[in-house]
Amino acid sequence: MCGIVGYLGHRDPSKVIIKGLKRLEYRGYDSAGIALHSDSGLVTQKCAGKVKELEKLLSESSEAGSNLGIGHTRWATHGVPNTINAHPHSDTSGKITLVHNGIIENYGTLKKHLKENGIECQSDTDTEVLVQFIAYLYEKEKLSFSDTVRLALKEVVGAYGIAVLCKDEPDTMIAARFGSPLVLGIGENEWFIGSDTSPIIEYTRNIVFLDEGEMATITRSGFEVININENHIVAKDIEEIKYSLDEIEKSGFDFFMLKEIFEQPKSIQESMRGRIDLENHHVKLGGIQDWLQRIIDAKNIYITACGTSWHAALIGSFLLEEIIQKPVKVEYASELRYRPSAINSDTVLFSISQSGETADTLAAIKKTKELGAFTVGIVNAVGSSIARETDCGVYIHAGPEIGVASTKAFTSQVSVLSMMAILLAQRLGKDTEYIHTLIEEMVKLPTMVQSILDDAEHIEKIAGHFVDSEHFLYLGRGYQFPVALEGALKLKEISYIHAEGYPAAEMKHGPIALIDENMPVVFIVTEKGYEKIVSNIQEVKARGGRVIIVTSENAEELSQYSDHIITIPSTENALMPIITTIPLQLLAYYIAVLKGCDVDQPRNLAKSVTVE
Ligand code: AGP
Repeated sequence: MCGIVGYLGHRDPSKVIIKGLKRLEYRGYDSAGIALHSDSGLVTQKCAGKVKELEKLLSESSEAGSNLGIGHTRWATHGVPNTINAHPHSDTSGKITLVHNGIIENYGTLKKHLKENGIECQSDTDTEVLVQFIAYLYEKEKLSFSDTVRLALKEVVGAYGIAVLCKDEPDTMIAARFGSPLVLGIGENEWFIGSDTSPIIEYTRNIVFLDEGEMATITRSGFEVININENHIVAKDIEEIKYSLDEIEKSGFDFFMLKEIFEQPKSIQESMRGRIDLENHHVKLGGIQDWLQRIIDAKNIYITACGTSWHAALIGSFLLEEIIQKPVKVEYASELRYRPSAINSDTVLFSISQSGETADTLAAIKKTKELGAFTVGIVNAVGSSIARETDCGVYIHAGPEIGVASTKAFTSQVSVLSMMAILLAQRLGKDTEYIHTLIEEMVKLPTMVQSILDDAEHIEKIAGHFVDSEHFLYLGRGYQFPVALEGALKLKEISYIHAEGYPAAEMKHGPIALIDENMPVVFIVTEKGYEKIVSNIQEVKARGGRVIIVTSENAEELSQYSDHIITIPSTENALMPIITTIPLQLLAYYIAVLKGCDVDQPRNLAKSVTVE
């Protein structure tokens, strides 16, 4: 996912922008660039590779008199990652320069129109077509810079988050969004543009979230936001961001992922803060409190998400089915958005997303809303597109999750889903002893998770035995089946080792053919279904498989069937996923680090998939 930073103010823009692009590196990218409005006009430096290469390029050139600039990290969609395709892109005359996150779907039509008017593009990118088109209109229509950009965007079909500069206007930058998030930072006589708040927070906490189809014109006298299609001014609230700079720094950890794994006692605590009244056994989720009846009255319950969030969705479906006794359908958002479905006004759709910007999930929400569904978001990123698109929702309060591999967001998603199931059960009058026990056990989860983290060294040692493995199987039953899927995803996405998760009982329907001494198998064992899974373990052991057991039960007995054993605390079966996933996160992390992988920015991956 691309990253955008813009700056207008009294500082050296190159320093602000380079630092900001480094804060956006977690999004995944393959080239970087910057454009500065200096005494000699619009000057661009860009290159394939990392931001530090761009920094080296900049140090070899000195642009005087600049207080305005835009920067970009590109995750290639059109055109290979090389210098010519890197952003910023300028038109042939050098009058307009632009950076872009998204996809211009009708770039072919625009490119053809430009060619018919004698304008040839140099790169393979859709972005260059956009900047050439803006410059073409600027020349032809003789409108102001901002009116020209708005006019051009009205012709665009597709998704964009853009920042634009014009050679004639040394004190103006324009930001516009449709489908790719952009935020403005409002400082003391300085203004910022960011793909999210991380490049901005060290300078100001005052943020304006642009909404779909909005364009901001920023000058030294302030900013103005208009609706691109209707061309009317939009009054925007300036919101204060709460998280601290420290939360987006590594704070001494080697990787953000490890920091976020170790943050989980706190992040799980934060997910429950102000929401659990232990004394009265009550749960309160402010964001949906007024909509509980609407949710309960729904005849159909769907949960949709992608990736790790989909694994949380599967756990959520088990929780809701067990605790409120209602059938729940879980759908991959990428399937739900296209597949004909029976969704109607009797449906409530829960959507789960850490970033709140995943294109498939956002599209699935929009589609189901058109079909009449009532939508509930379970999101981490405050003010994100999914948070704004859904009818109501609950923030998970996990804090910024920088590592591409989702960890603390997952456990906080499951924590919120657990509270949601309890809240709905109580609303349905099912305020049973079991519900009270679940509440009592929930507040103990942070301490239980901490006890596993205290045993991290033991897991690191086990990881050392599997650095050369090429395949892994993860097996679990019931609530532990989604955890098996999540453990497998963690391993494959950061260590590039092929891994699969299965319901343990499925082994005999095919996968057991894979078992030999080169196929390590991770079993997740809890009290529920203990005897059954022990027989699964024995089946694997009998065929020479290497066995790692994560267990809350009978470690002594199980050690006779396992090569390695990780013991964890025990709690109510429905809450065990939050516990059992922790050792799997650590196992994946240590194997990947021992393999020398870039754990925070795994190859080919982005932190949030904002393109299809
Ligand atoms: C999980 O570790 C991955 N980063 C990925 O599967 C992620 O969960 C998925 O892309 C969904 O992202 P979201 O939660 O931000 O919507």
